[in-house]
Amino acid sequence: MKLDIPYMLEHLTLEEKAGLCSGKDQWFTKAVERLGLPSIMVSDGPHGLRTQKEKVNGQYIGSIKSVCFPTGCALACSYDRDLMHHVGNDLGKEARAEGVQTLLGPAVNIKRSPLCGRNFEYLGEDPYQVGEMASSYVKGVQEEHVGVSLKHFAANSQEFRRMSIDEHIDERTLREIYLAAFEKVVKEAKPWTLMCSYNQINGAYSSENPWLLTKVLRDDWGFDGVVMSDWGAVNRRVPALRAGLELEMPSSGGVNDRKIVAAVKDGSLSMEVLDRAVRRLLEWIQKGVEDTSHAPYDKEADHEDARKASCACAVLLRNEHSLLPLPSFDGVLFVGPFAKKPRFQGGGSSHINNFKLTSAIDAAPGVTYLPGMGDDSETRDEKRLEEAVSASSSAKAVVVFAGLPETWESEGYDRATLSLPPCQDELIAKLVEKNKNIIVVLHHGSSVTMPWRNDVASILDMYLGGQAVGGATVDLLLGKVNPSGKLAETSPLRLEDTPCYLDYDKGQHDAYYGERVFVGYRWYDERKLPVQYPFGFGLSYTTFSLSSLSVSSKVFKEGDLLVVTLKVKNTGKKTGSEVVQLYVAPPKGLSVARPPKELKGFCKVFLQPGEEKEVTMTLDGRSFSYWDNGWRAEKGVYAIAVGPSSQELTLTASVTVEEKPRKLTITDATTIGDVLGSGYPYPAFEQFFKQMMRQMSATDGTLGSGEKAMREAMMMSLPLHAVCSFTNLDLDVLLKMLS
Ligand code: BGC
Repeated sequence: MKLDIPYMLEHLTLEEKAGLCSGKDQWFTKAVERLGLPSIMVSDGPHGLRTQKEKVNGQYIGSIKSVCFPTGCALACSYDRDLMHHVGNDLGKEARAEGVQTLLGPAVNIKRSPLCGRNFEYLGEDPYQVGEMASSYVKGVQEEHVGVSLKHFAANSQEFRRMSIDEHIDERTLREIYLAAFEKVVKEAKPWTLMCSYNQINGAYSSENPWLLTKVLRDDWGFDGVVMSDWGAVNRRVPALRAGLELEMPSSGGVNDRKIVAAVKDGSLSMEVLDRAVRRLLEWIQKGVEDTSHAPYDKEADHEDARKASCACAVLLRNEHSLLPLPSFDGVLFVGPFAKKPRFQGGGSSHINNFKLTSAIDAAPGVTYLPGMGDDSETRDEKRLEEAVSASSSAKAVVVFAGLPETWESEGYDRATLSLPPCQDELIAKLVEKNKNIIVVLHHGSSVTMPWRNDVASILDMYLGGQAVGGATVDLLLGKVNPSGKLAETSPLRLEDTPCYLDYDKGQHDAYYGERVFVGYRWYDERKLPVQYPFGFGLSYTTFSLSSLSVSSKVFKEGDLLVVTLKVKNTGKKTGSEVVQLYVAPPKGLSVARPPKELKGFCKVFLQPGEEKEVTMTLDGRSFSYWDNGWRAEKGVYAIAVGPSSQELTLTASVTVEEKPRKLTITDATTIGDVLGSGYPYPAFEQFFKQMMRQMSATDGTLGSGEKAMREAMMMSLPLHAVCSFTNLDLDVLLKMLS
């Protein structure tokens, strides 16, 4: 269907235009039948379709049966852009077939604390990784002529008071950490829509924040789609429209539409702003209805895709004496209710009415099973505990299915602890006393503490792996598939070690991001804190070696691309995939504090035993930059460190970044050191400084070289006004030397 947008803009009444700026109901935009404008449908997202079609007494109930793919927390661990693309394709096809024009996802908020109840939907703690993975997903969905809504823009880092919390964050932290994944997706994958978050940032609700929705999103990044509100996120409708929020969802019941009409009539809102919003909405609707033809989708085939995806996401955290893979399940005992009824998704708006569910027991029929605790996986049951512990002594191996119960993590509230239910920790501790071959399979949406981690033989982390997770678990336990996932978040030892521990969920109305850019591994690296498992960590049933690292140039200048090449070899006996990670480590002594290293490249390489491949990753100016009122790659020698995990960087190279000296912005706090260290030529000032130093030595000829150095160091920290008071110089004269 082709819409005549100029005609519509000309013939829509003011009331109709205002009406288009809010939804018809929970899931539909409004139609204007007299002009042939159809209504389109949106649907959650992000790891399956939660499409509501049935209404009772005007209210939507239930949702269609659909396929639950692995959730964001699991998908991210695959580090596999092609997989993200493929899952996106599947979701796009499903959405199209169900009459959905825009899928509400992906959710690319950065995991600030492992306690966030919604972390299971999010992809990780590193903005580069999240941005890369989400871009592939978005391209996959949109290739099927279905839009996405990139959410929740921005800094929706907690569920506690999520609809009103005021997040106090400095601009550098926002740009480098909390906005960067959105930026990458907007620039690379061009999402049709974006969803603003509920929270406030520095005193302004995201829904009515012109800096966020217009300056950053449109002016800086070139976003040309529609911004919709999260459901119920609109505070003041007219300022929101002015700030750049086109669509209020789910609906305003007409109230806010009337406010828009009144504001245009009394002149407080210009018709231009409303027309601009309506044009963007029409362009989005046009994309949605351009071609609505569709093929029926095959749910069983998508279930198989979900199983493959879950296999690719699993992270093998421990595997002593290569206990895994098991040759068979003969003599093996499965323990824990999740073996029968796995945890595979989280609670809230992303909750899928999955058409099918495969548990590990379904996939391994006949295996011996004992619950070991209450069916809810959180209640201690003495009889069941004893039964499992005693049966474990004669088992060849015991697979314990542990993890967070469903009600422990969800949209709408945060977790209270990093621990698993005590009955699970107790069970595992007792099992290891009886049997040395204990394998723990984990289901959870974000990091948990594992006090028994060094006592069990193996840990296979499935995260929340979607409806086919049981089949995938069995494939991995038996070695039909080799684990290849790597953690997309640091697994900390204690809650008290986490970067925002002092602030998280502690304030009633405000959150202070005092840890600044030191989020995730950036924090643990800088503080040299031990962790349970580092970011990027994951084992395999085979072994790999990395070699021959080289960089395309020793010098890097603005506008250059640096090609990094290395070889990866499968040195073991099984086929498998390695995730090669590239971190950039800045030199010491830059003008701002920077994390010791940051992920700037990764690739997943599939290799047969003995096979070797060459891989390349490309760095650009942004790879070396931090935010300083713009992106700045400060001069110096940067290390390029490559390895299979953030803590195992086996190869390093270096590159000298050259920077054109920049003229300083002089402020009250500018020091002599700032001026001389800027590299920018200030000949008059340099002359003046030399003279000052000469005079100092002349007046106090007794100064030894150590004292001279001390004085010089003190001088470097002297702000310009202090220079004036020590030299009796007029500040204007000094400023002139610097103009
Ligand atoms: C969630 C969104 C979701 C929307 C519609 C909100 O509560 O935060 O992520 O897309 O509901 O269900």
